[in-house]
Amino acid sequence: MPDSFDILLLPGDGIGPEVVASARAVMDAAAKHFGVTLNYEERRVGAAAIRDEGAPVSDETLERAKASDAILLGAVGDPEFDGGDVRPEAGLLALRKTLGTFANLRPVAAIPSLIEWSPLKKEIVSGVDVLIVRELTGGAYFGEKVEGFEYASDQSVYTKDEVVRVARVAFDAAKRRKRRVTSVDKANVMATGRMWRKVVAEVAEEYPDVELDHALADSTAMHLITDPSRFDVIVTDNLFGDMLSDEAAVLPGSMGMLPSASLGEPGSPGIFEPVHGSAPDIAGKGISNPYATILSAAMMFRHGLGRPDIAGAIEQGVSAAMEAKYLTGDLGGEKTTEEVTKAVSQWVVAGEGVA
Ligand code: NAD
Ligand code: IPM
Ligand code: MN
Repeated sequence: MPDSFDILLLPGDGIGPEVVASARAVMDAAAKHFGVTLNYEERRVGAAAIRDEGAPVSDETLERAKASDAILLGAVGDPEFDGGDVRPEAGLLALRKTLGTFANLRPVAAIPSLIEWSPLKKEIVSGVDVLIVRELTGGAYFGEKVEGFEYASDQSVYTKDEVVRVARVAFDAAKRRKRRVTSVDKANVMATGRMWRKVVAEVAEEYPDVELDHALADSTAMHLITDPSRFDVIVTDNLFGDMLSDEAAVLPGSMGMLPSASLGEPGSPGIFEPVHGSAPDIAGKGISNPYATILSAAMMFRHGLGRPDIAGAIEQGVSAAMEAKYLTGDLGGEKTTEEVTKAVSQWVVAGEGVA
């Protein structure tokens, strides 16, 4: 098994540095325990990079990202740059495009010990386990843009190949789960949606043991919080995937719980990043919820570094800490980021069952 890894840390803005420092501490504890070496390099992205390097991501950082084994990213975005010509978010988009991370896995599961914190009824949330596979390098995010005050447009383009490759990621994942894929589009209105639907149906023929259904994005938004158990794997485009995954955060109860893995072609480095943003409203207070980033680090070990054993240990450490009510304010707890970090690190090292 591989035992030495080059990891690029991109903490970014707002709570990004807090949650990445937390995940790093947990990764260090796990690395020591498993006898692996983590070689870190830390660089700027987002507003931090605009201030210090003049661009939301420098060419050198993109080169370092390509040369790494995996990237752990915090969050980008700062109200200081709202309305400006250069946006911190452009740094993250450039990273995704440069690394070709076309498939963004966003798992959303009900956590038994936290069900009381979900704003939804217990019977709706219980047992929920959904994987949102969001297309990440196409669609409205990356089409031609015209930006004026009298006229603006964002072109949304998909090629067949782009739909095929992300659909295959979804079907492959479904084979390891409950063998159900829901493809989400707006085929009733959009040309890209109709093409998306036909292409996904064609890909489904390669997977006779996986059941496919198609659903419209608007009613899916409703079903996701009224009847989430109907879903196993959801595959959808870049924009719908962005919105549906934030909506899905109400199932576990907070944005601070959702991890993600942004993956490209096999062998190319993935970006592991929480779904949440830079949360300027709570930045710098030491109260941000680090679980999403810690679980993103677990996804890094599983999907990016070929070490599912270390991923599993981190996930167990997280479950143990949650059960012991190491919770930050967003989940009704009173623990600080640091207290949660220490608890998870200890449980990762101590193993399951130690209270
Ligand atoms: P946000 O996700 O930053 O925050 C939404 C709400 O959730 C806030 O009330 C925040 O306090 C809370 N929250 C989010 N993460 C939390 C955590 N870990 N612990 C506790 N509470 C948490 O979304 P927003 O406010 O719409 O956006 C703020 C900035 O972040 C914007 O500039 C946006 O572009 C950027 N953003 C970046 C990413 C990313 O880097 N991947 C993702 C989403 C938004
Ligand atoms: C996310 C974020 C990003 C997106 C922004 C910050 C560019 O909201 O990762 O979900 O829209 O993809
Ligand atoms: Mn988002």
